[in-house]
Amino acid sequence: MEIRKITESDRDEIVRLYQKSQAATHIPNPDFYPPDSLDTELYSRDALDRYVAVMDQKIVGHGLIENPNPISLDFWLNGMPPSNNARLLELGGAFVDPDFSRKGIYSELLSHRLNIIRKMGAIAVSATWITNIHVQRQFMKEGGEEVARQKVPAGVLCLFIFK
Ligand SMILES: CC(C)(COP(=O)(O)OP(=O)(O)OC[C@H]1O[C@@H](n2cnc3c(N)ncnc32)[C@H](O)[C@@H]1OP(=O)(O)O)[C@@H](O)C(=O)NCCC(=O)NCCS
Repeated sequence: MEIRKITESDRDEIVRLYQKSQAATHIPNPDFYPPDSLDTELYSRDALDRYVAVMDQKIVGHGLIENPNPISLDFWLNGMPPSNNARLLELGGAFVDPDFSRKGIYSELLSHRLNIIRKMGAIAVSATWITNIHVQRQFMKEGGEEVARQKVPAGVLCLFIFK
């Protein structure tokens, strides 16, 4: 498997994969994020870098490094030691082809992006739904600590900082 930055020509394949992942997992909640809104949802985000996992020339996973979502920023800032002024960068936009789940693709995408953020001297933060227990477990394996829970219209978010 290869992890690389996306190109513009990947866009349709990425959006189709996002829709396929949502159909299989109901994440993000389709009542709040209808399938035909996912293209805009993904591409309107303030991303620094967008990564895909590729197997046999097929995109099987996706993840972003993005500026922190403003709706959660205060929760993350409150979870930081007062003396630490490092830049915060969010790990977001993660999904994997359901036909390739539980093969470690997400775990690799997560550690790849964490390494990049750490090399930049920034602090990684992330949010996942309260129901996403395996994602929370993966965050903790990678040094993530839950600092807050936040109720939003589509559910409850668990907010993590990777210290
Ligand atoms: C969450 C998601 C990205 C995981 O992708 P993946 O490539 O299957 O994950 P991995 O293979 O790296 O597995 C990571 C861990 O989660 C576990 N896991 C994966 N899918 C699981 C599931 N459906 N239920 C329970 N555990 C699961 C794996 O067993 C592994 O744990 P382990 O190391 O203790 O064995 C994928 O299920 C997905 O796209 N979900 C919808 C979008 C989403 O929830 N994104 C997360 C950000 S909110």
